[in-house]
Amino acid sequence: MEMIGIIEKKRDGKKLQSSDIEYFIKGYTKGDIPDYQASAFLMACYIRGLDREETFLLTEIMRDTGKKADLSSIEGIKVDKHSTGGVGDKTTLITGPLAASLGVPVAKMSGRSLGFTGGTVDKMESIPGMKVSLKEEDFIRQVNEKGIAVIGQTPDIAPADKLIYSLRDVTGTVDNASLITASIMSKKLALGSDAILLDVKCGSGAFMQDYDDACDLAKMMVYIGNAAGKRTVAAVTDMDQPLGHAIGNSIEVIEAIEVLKGEGPEDITELSVTLAGLMAYMGEKAPSPEEGKLLAKEKLYDGKGLEKFRQFVEAQGGNPEIIENYMLFPQAKHSIDILSDNNGYIVGIDADKTGEASRHTGAGREVKGQKIDLSAGIYLHKKVGDQVKEGDILATLQGNSKKKLLVSAGICKEAFHMAGSRPDKELLIRSIIGL
Ligand code: URA
Repeated sequence: MEMIGIIEKKRDGKKLQSSDIEYFIKGYTKGDIPDYQASAFLMACYIRGLDREETFLLTEIMRDTGKKADLSSIEGIKVDKHSTGGVGDKTTLITGPLAASLGVPVAKMSGRSLGFTGGTVDKMESIPGMKVSLKEEDFIRQVNEKGIAVIGQTPDIAPADKLIYSLRDVTGTVDNASLITASIMSKKLALGSDAILLDVKCGSGAFMQDYDDACDLAKMMVYIGNAAGKRTVAAVTDMDQPLGHAIGNSIEVIEAIEVLKGEGPEDITELSVTLAGLMAYMGEKAPSPEEGKLLAKEKLYDGKGLEKFRQFVEAQGGNPEIIENYMLFPQAKHSIDILSDNNGYIVGIDADKTGEASRHTGAGREVKGQKIDLSAGIYLHKKVGDQVKEGDILATLQGNSKKKLLVSAGICKEAFHMAGSRPDKELLIRSIIGL
């Protein structure tokens, strides 16, 4: 009976009280509230919106459904970095070692791929021997000794989010700033870092396709993080085309290593040093974000970031020889090239379509728990602004199933848009909120 009243309250645009939100979250987590009522409630929240106070309450109540990590025995200001999800986004594997080489302790829990977005933990698993789960004491010891540890998120962190996210995913209620904020920030706040850097993606491969919507999301997340006592900053960054050239798992780790060798693509290099610089600033290892970026660049070009990556891989049981010998990664049996039919310039590469195409190569999963092909993925030979001639290779798809690659090729080709003249260059880092 009580749940009906709460649904009606939000349906009629009224403000929810803490007791209403607690009733829903606790009841749904325990299994006492059925999916049909939870769906109606989430849709009412989606349509009517939640204000900052309601969003803050929702976030804290969701956080408190699970365990809170205690990282207090790690010395220094721990800065977590989180991306709202994109295609080709391997920045954690680069910013983590760079920030750690600048003295910022990196104690990170990351996610797995779902739908068209990739996940750091899957990428890490393409490194032979690499462990993605550690006992809490080993995780803390590794951060204290090596400066960096990255593991998969444990199920006891904000369990309410897992249940609610699964329902949002199938009820058209994902892309709402308050619901995304509560989902992400409930987990981030439970993870025990001192400060949070958010990379809020904006464009065809992001939840927020429109710049203003991405800024609203970033502002909401910054507000909630600060209100919960964690210094929070958000960068709003472009996700209209994939980041870098590689999309997949082993293929993205290789690109991350190339960046740390100072030989990676410009966009992912620029974003990685900017984010590492912000982490250094927030962790009080640089006097300003600009100075932090310069220091991060130094660590990139003097090889200290790569050395930190090597220590990180070794500490988690991975084979560090992959850094010199890429043949040690899982190898794909098949590959297909996608050729250009025209002369002209690339004016767009839909990030969502390439993400979808990558999933079809076997590199991603449609449903949780699905096994993925760590060797599979897409290499984009051309990016937005590049000139192409008829017959040039636009992309190479790789994987172990020829059938899957053929399906993927059709989707990937549709992602490329061409015109007769070079497009204006889009800004990669569009704004920084909360500094
Ligand atoms: N990532 C999450 O964890 N939750 C959302 O709602 C969106 C992205």
